Amino acid sequence: MLNPDSAQTKHPKKPRAIPPNVKQMREIMEKALDGGDPKRIEAQRAKGKFTARDRLHYLLDEDSFQEQGLLVTTRCADFGLKDKHIPGDGVITGFGKISGRQVCVFAQDFTVLGGSLGLAHAMKICKVMDLAYENRVPLIGLLDSGGARIQEGVDSLDGYAEIFYRNVKCSGVIPQISVILGPCAGGAVYSPALTDFVFMVEGTSHMFVTGPEVVKAATGEVVSFDHLGGSMAHASKSGVCHMVAASEQDCFRQLKELVSFLPLNRWERPLRVANPDPVRRTTPLLEALCEVDPRKPYRVHHIIWQIADEHKFFEIHANFAKSIVVGFIRLGGDVAGVVANNPAHKAGALDIDSSDKAARFIRFLNAFNIPILTLVDVPGYWPGVDQEHGGIIRHGAKLLHAYSEATVPKVTVILRKAYGGAYIAMSSKHMRGDFNFALPCAEIAVMGPKGAVEILYSRDIAAAEDKDALREKLSKEYQERFASPYQTASTGSVDEVIEPTQIRYKVIRAFKFLYDKRKPGEHSNRGNIPL
Ligand code: HXC
Repeated sequence: MLNPDSAQTKHPKKPRAIPPNVKQMREIMEKALDGGDPKRIEAQRAKGKFTARDRLHYLLDEDSFQEQGLLVTTRCADFGLKDKHIPGDGVITGFGKISGRQVCVFAQDFTVLGGSLGLAHAMKICKVMDLAYENRVPLIGLLDSGGARIQEGVDSLDGYAEIFYRNVKCSGVIPQISVILGPCAGGAVYSPALTDFVFMVEGTSHMFVTGPEVVKAATGEVVSFDHLGGSMAHASKSGVCHMVAASEQDCFRQLKELVSFLPLNRWERPLRVANPDPVRRTTPLLEALCEVDPRKPYRVHHIIWQIADEHKFFEIHANFAKSIVVGFIRLGGDVAGVVANNPAHKAGALDIDSSDKAARFIRFLNAFNIPILTLVDVPGYWPGVDQEHGGIIRHGAKLLHAYSEATVPKVTVILRKAYGGAYIAMSSKHMRGDFNFALPCAEIAVMGPKGAVEILYSRDIAAAEDKDALREKLSKEYQERFASPYQTASTGSVDEVIEPTQIRYKVIRAFKFLYDKRKPGEHSNRGNIPL
């Protein structure tokens, strides 16, 4: 056997000459790995942005990245592109690992033709999307692009269409995450919008269908990039963005944490981790909640922290539709999704945006085998002409649809108020909640006591000498009769009125029992359509 390093080699070792074809290969690869023009790279860094390769370095486990298509380049020669052919065509694609688990990735390189998307660029992205789909691993896209490559005309648009088609095909099959790390303009915004989670970085990420110049020309409105399509605009107003990061590094940290809660695909469960937090840890804050004035607002986060393993809650969409809170926790080591009314905003009422926000999250959880914990403190639907004309009926219906179709384990705890249609919507028993608990301070009824007595006893109140005294008496009677958990428990619509201090234990025990309710992959495939 030919073995140049063998001790049996008769002649002293001579340094071997590198074969010319290997030398040529190394030169080609080295040049290709350089990316864009050094000036462009400098400009990128000056904006506080990493290069595409730096980003993959920060995101993926060390030495785990395997690139695909490094030498792919555009075949288009029009409008001066002939002299600008760059290997890789402005996007890096391949697979790697995050905390030891496989993912597929693409990272657009703004230093090469502004990260613009031509046909070869699009086909590289499509290839890695197919790889993710066929191998059932999450897909993460790092976007930093001027949009459709103008020189390549309709080929670029067709490239986008191929990506959008695959985004929809992957929807509900593998988790898809988009990270906006620069511009994302024109129709390009629709790929992230089709994915499950969108991250943006303060100051450097922008998304818009038409930029400030076009807006000015079309409507006369003068608006800055940030105001129109910056991270906070999309995190708090449009709801396009789920997670805002202070920097790219912060963004990758958050992204890795999110990935830790997700299964690789719809046939798997999320990872179970060791849980150092006692399952029987008591929850005294819940007892305190039963003492306070039921009209007093509070942030439901405190309740979630109290229930969750190690008091940790990974919130999603924190700046959008704040009257409902959604995110991930662990319970006894297993991942659960939380959907909770938040009395600190709009008294926790359901409105258009909160219905959309919760419904889409529930659909994600159901697609990816993640049980749902629902915490209810809802006075009803937010009233108003804006809400009615904006379609609260249409949007509110999405929440009913999402909870009804969800077949993952569902545990509901009514903390305080649960009134009317909003009671039904929040994973009530007859919407197929598996275990529905209520605290002793729960008020469950068709409507609040004040409104109810005005309708039921209008004539008596009109005839009474001391109207307020009568109102108060009737309200109290109504409250005792209907707006308590016991009436509902007597009909079985609440399974149990529970000790407030035992809520963590009760919920964990319920989910452990429900663990095998549905085998991953047994459910019919439903896409996570943007709602
Ligand atoms: C080709 C592009 C490009 C594009 C940028 N570049 N966008 N090349 N097609 N869409 C090139 C620039 O010519 C420049 O090349 C380099 O990228 C960097 O761009 P700059 O403008 O110098 O950078 P900056 O000042 O940071 O501005 C970034 C930008 C701006 C805001 C993104 O480039 C811009 O407005 N681009 C167009 C954005 C846009 O309207 N896109 C929508 C296209 S239509 P050199 O050679 O100088 O380095 C679309 C429809 C898709 O996307 C529909 C899908 C369904």
